[in-house]
Amino acid sequence: MEKLLEVKNLTKTFTLGSVLSRVKITAVDNISFYIKPAEIFALAGESGCGKTTTARIIMGFEHATSGAIIHSGKKEAKNEKVWFTEGIQAIFQDPFGTFNPLRQVERYFFETIENYKLAKSKRAAVERIDAKLRLVGLSYEDLAGKYPSEFSGGQLQRISIARALLTDPQLIIADEPVSMVDASLRMSIVNLFKKLRDELGVSVLYITHDLATAYYVCDRIAIMFRGKIAEMGTVEQVLMAPKHPYTQLLRASIPEADTAHRWQGEIRLTDAEEEEYLRQGCRFAGRCPRVMDICRTTPPPDFEVEGAQVACHLYADAG
Ligand SMILES: Nc1ncnc2c1ncn2[C@@H]1O[C@H](COP(=O)(O)OP(=O)(O)O)[C@@H](O)[C@H]1O
Ligand SMILES: [Mg+2]
Repeated sequence: MEKLLEVKNLTKTFTLGSVLSRVKITAVDNISFYIKPAEIFALAGESGCGKTTTARIIMGFEHATSGAIIHSGKKEAKNEKVWFTEGIQAIFQDPFGTFNPLRQVERYFFETIENYKLAKSKRAAVERIDAKLRLVGLSYEDLAGKYPSEFSGGQLQRISIARALLTDPQLIIADEPVSMVDASLRMSIVNLFKKLRDELGVSVLYITHDLATAYYVCDRIAIMFRGKIAEMGTVEQVLMAPKHPYTQLLRASIPEADTAHRWQGEIRLTDAEEEEYLRQGCRFAGRCPRVMDICRTTPPPDFEVEGAQVACHLYADAG
């Protein structure tokens, strides 16, 4: 099977607190997954489970404590560094934070074109910009001379996607790209990812705490809990027939067939957070409705259950 990007045994530890009372938080704890060409892969889970840290390591903004990021998607004659800068582009959560309010939006496009030497003339640059904007339902004319404040958050996210497409990336990393966008516009934006996958063969790492949009656009999904992958498989397997008690809990909180509503089942980070990170056995043991003795002492290995990967002792006999 062809893999575009592989994350292998990735671990990231942060040290918190003062010199006298140091606490180590393993924000990402030995996770492994891969993304295929032309695939939308979701990394989902509640706030603080390690999604952004994983994305930042893939993008090279942060060093891993251990583990590896392996890619096999590099274009011929391009070295690894070039693949990472041109082949992977990112879209962030806050569309208003992405653009300086005092700069015309088109400047960002011309800047990217200059940085990567993507056009030989102003005219060629405008043509390239226009072509990418048309993929997201806009055009160069819609943008010319305008400032960020002249667009809605939804339009700015479309513009961010168009800008990301300038380098013809093979992978787009989108970290909560619609969580700050008006609910009525979310689907139209995540739908663009499907279009890019189908028409351009682009892969997307879709990071979200919203299982409804994940179900709607993604091919496969990994559910993270406290730095670990609890369950991973196709969205049909994981969200329609969840195996891990944590996924079952999350799934139960999505209103049936109501993809326009955000997942309301956020389990808030409480004082239990630190304790859960330091827990010996399964990190979900303290809240799991099906907890067993072994869960409190031994971290669960991954079991294969009906094609999905589930880190839960309940399935010890299934594998
Ligand atoms: N630079 C940092 N220094 C210390 N702790 C961090 C840092 N970045 C993230 N963390 C901690 O790592 C955990 C995972 O954070 P993050 O990856 O941002 O989660 P998510 O994106 O899923 O909300 C959280 O407990 C967070 O507080
Ligand atoms: Mg995050």
